[in-house]
Amino acid sequence: MTEMVPGLAGIPAAESAISYIDGKIGVLEYRGIPIEELAAKSNFEEVSWLLLHGSLPTSEELENFRYRLREARKLPASLLDSIASFPADGHPMGALQAGLAALGLHGGQAAWQESGDVDEACIRLIAATPVLVAAFHAGRTGRALPEPADDLDTAANFLWMMTGERPDELATKILDVCLVLHADHTMNASTFTARVIASTEADPYTVCSGAIGSLTGPLHGGANERVLSALEEIGGADKVEAWVANRLATKGKIMGFGHRVYSVKDPRAIALQELVRALFDKLGTTPVYSIATRLEEEVTLHLGHKGIYPNVDFFSGIVYQKLGIPTDVFTPVFAIARISGWLAHWREQMQDNKLFRPAQVYSGGHGSEYVPIDKRR
Ligand code: ACO
Repeated sequence: MTEMVPGLAGIPAAESAISYIDGKIGVLEYRGIPIEELAAKSNFEEVSWLLLHGSLPTSEELENFRYRLREARKLPASLLDSIASFPADGHPMGALQAGLAALGLHGGQAAWQESGDVDEACIRLIAATPVLVAAFHAGRTGRALPEPADDLDTAANFLWMMTGERPDELATKILDVCLVLHADHTMNASTFTARVIASTEADPYTVCSGAIGSLTGPLHGGANERVLSALEEIGGADKVEAWVANRLATKGKIMGFGHRVYSVKDPRAIALQELVRALFDKLGTTPVYSIATRLEEEVTLHLGHKGIYPNVDFFSGIVYQKLGIPTDVFTPVFAIARISGWLAHWREQMQDNKLFRPAQVYSGGHGSEYVPIDKRR
């Protein structure tokens, strides 16, 4: 009988040259470059190019890429209108999943089948994602969606389209670094989803909208939203000890802690914590930060021996809240970043494709009798 590994933990599902993790010492690299270096020196557009093409762009390539991304933000009015009319109490991740599928309907899937223009499809998807998130938010809050700003890159333009206000330099820089930190992370659930869909030779719009569904869950991208709810529920640093004791006694998961791959603190959480400090030095602290700091101490005390430390989602929500991003838009921000990674994996999968078709370990019966309906109990 074939041995089954729950959650495929530790089983290689693909050969990939896109990102690399050493979970024992907290290393993350994109195309061989340490994430800390990219967070300090690069930006989301350059990192997207790096992930997609395998090497850093020349200045001409980067300028051209930026220009094409800005042009591709101009989405058809009928698409924006349909996103804006989704139910206001629906979750933005649902709207984004539908929005990306709809982007494929708006001249995407058909054009892709005809041209097979991989670069064009990647640019369209990376550029459209933040606009679709902002369009849903504008619709549900009854505001007009601002036109994309031709002089702003992804992070700044997203803040502009979400709020209608030009973001300051620090807010832009911080969101941009968050996008860099979230852009790829080896064979996580949503990337695996993207590769599985890609392996059927489905179009890239379907690949990305499927990956969004996978990112939505609370054990993956959806954790950042729940971290903030937990911090708010705790209500004060002095209540952390009792809250953690209760959680552990009831065997509840503490969101924002633990990772399938890291047994030390996630390097992205370390980078994000530094950003939180920079942001709070300038704009003042928030009550959730002191709760988070205390929570990290308490959880590490009880679960550190199991290798459970803060993951990227632990600090991202605190940053996004301070930037004025609504809680239910935290996971969509993750998607705005990760779409570059998914598309890099889609390209890689297509270079040497083999349809994913794993085996199973059957645990049911054999030769069971068909019982007529009037004889069933
Ligand atoms: N809180 C409390 N206990 C935890 C946590 C946690 N966050 N994470 C793991 N554990 C415990 C489990 O209860 C289990 O204990 P046991 O061995 O005594 O039964 C042990 O650690 C192993 O846990 P698993 O869930 O089996 O480990 P896995 O490798 O599958 O966990 C996961 C990874 C799913 C991320 C888990 O740590 C978790 O649920 N964390 C909370 C959700 C979260 O923050 N997700 C975001 C991940 S990062 C990202 O997607 C970007």
